[in-house]
Amino acid sequence: MLNIVIFGAPGSGKGTQSEKLVAKYGLQHVSTGEILRDEIEANTELGKLADSYMSKGELVPDCIVIDMLDCRTEKKRHVKGFIFDGFPRTVPQGEALSKMLSKHEEDVNAVISLEVADEELIDRLLKRGQISGRSDDNRETIEARLKVYYRQTSPLKEFYKERGILKEIDGIGTVDEIFRTIENEIDQLIK
Ligand code: AP5
Ligand code: MG
Repeated sequence: MLNIVIFGAPGSGKGTQSEKLVAKYGLQHVSTGEILRDEIEANTELGKLADSYMSKGELVPDCIVIDMLDCRTEKKRHVKGFIFDGFPRTVPQGEALSKMLSKHEEDVNAVISLEVADEELIDRLLKRGQISGRSDDNRETIEARLKVYYRQTSPLKEFYKERGILKEIDGIGTVDEIFRTIENEIDQLIK
């Protein structure tokens, strides 16, 4: 199995690059943000709870997200591998992910971190906000999401650096240019 985490701040291009990775490597895309937005859309209890955090730009509590993901990876464990997008987002989630994968003698193989300056992130998300309908794509919530990223999520970079699997990539450029750099990293991994 090939298990990749696509990592980065809000707006860094995780979703965009995940689509291309799915198309090229046939991996199963797991986006916790998308799963939660589907729950909100379906007006489930989980969706209502998640919305109360997401609309403020805060993280949904670890235990909820970890349980939700454990179920999904378990159901799909016959796939070639996973691309985790927006998960993990805290060190406890990173620990939980390794534990989940270790049940099948697997682990995360690489963490691709898309590095993009704040001004560019804000610009991209404000632009998307004009068409996305996402309740968190407005200036106030974007700023809250960035603060949460630096406070709660970015410490995971050190966590994965210590494990020798962090690949920091310049996330500015065209979508295709960035994808070529990611492809190089992954091709080295599967060589
Ligand atoms: P989530 O859905 O994961 O959102 P996010 O991390 O805030 O990031 P985005 O999806 O906004 O950006 P992206 O990096 O995918 O970039 P994209 O490719 O779309 O999470 C949302 C919320 O859910 C969280 O705040 C939290 O509340 C909750 N949540 C989710 N997972 C959780 C977890 N594990 N634990 C707890 N809570 C969780 O690109 C952005 C824009 O830029 C697009 O318009 C795109 O077209 C454009 N773009 C992409 N690439 C480029 C480029 N190279 N140049 C110019 N523009 C580009
Ligand atoms: Mg996304």
